[in-house]
Amino acid sequence: MKKVWKIAALMLSFALILGCFAACGETKTPTADSEHTTEGEGGTTVMTQSSRLTDGVLTVGTNAAFPPFEYLGDDGDPDGFDIALIEAIGEKLGVTVEVMDMEFDSLCTSVGNRIDVAIAGMTVDPEREKTVTFSDTYYKAIQNVLVPADDTAITDMASLEGKVIGVQQGTTGDMIADEIAGADVRRYNTFALAVEDLKNGNLDAVIIDQNPAEVFAGENEGVLKLLGAENFGFTDEYYAIACPKDDTALVASINAALAALQTDGTFDALVAEYIEK
Ligand code: ARG
Repeated sequence: MKKVWKIAALMLSFALILGCFAACGETKTPTADSEHTTEGEGGTTVMTQSSRLTDGVLTVGTNAAFPPFEYLGDDGDPDGFDIALIEAIGEKLGVTVEVMDMEFDSLCTSVGNRIDVAIAGMTVDPEREKTVTFSDTYYKAIQNVLVPADDTAITDMASLEGKVIGVQQGTTGDMIADEIAGADVRRYNTFALAVEDLKNGNLDAVIIDQNPAEVFAGENEGVLKLLGAENFGFTDEYYAIACPKDDTALVASINAALAALQTDGTFDALVAEYIEK
């Protein structure tokens, strides 16, 4: 054998041995599925299951201080629209859902390692898409501005310049506040903490998604008021579930479950129960 062929043969046997180890060994790292569907008998489409679902548990990260999408229920466990939605998705997929309450800002980097997916009223955003793949969107949202009830100074974007603005760290409200000239942006671990500081008189305004803004304003009638998106030129945002970037099978399963819930009326029932109540 020529020398190059010897080397090639040696490399091939190494590759085979390595391949066998990878195939036979117990691995927790899911394989990347480039193809998530296969042709079944009679041309039917059979979905390939993500290896993240084979243990029967879907681990979900959230930040439970964002009502009505997620908050801590009376029993201290996360509850809310997103939690009910991901539980319904889990049921469709035949897996148990385990929810972990985490910092919002660490959700995207935890997807695919500490947690399988994240659901947290999370807006689809190109920066986040570098780390995660989003499911189909499930809710249209927009930012609002919360101010003290007696405030008359804040009316539009220009009036926010130079103001002390509270946001939750790493949110789209944070991204918007970051662009406001001269603003002193205070970043909190939760929106609930930002709202507390607004009530304490330490902030001029909080930039926050509309539905949570309505909940916080409703809980603090006469103390806080809500300014709509119109005068601030905020644009529509869309919530989706953040999934691991390499796991097309998981994204496909979640999208299929989401579509089924939208068709069978479960989704609308959850909107009525949690958001439009
Ligand atoms: N929609 C905003 C964003 O994606 C805020 C989400 C905050 N969610 C939460 N559970 N705290 O940045």
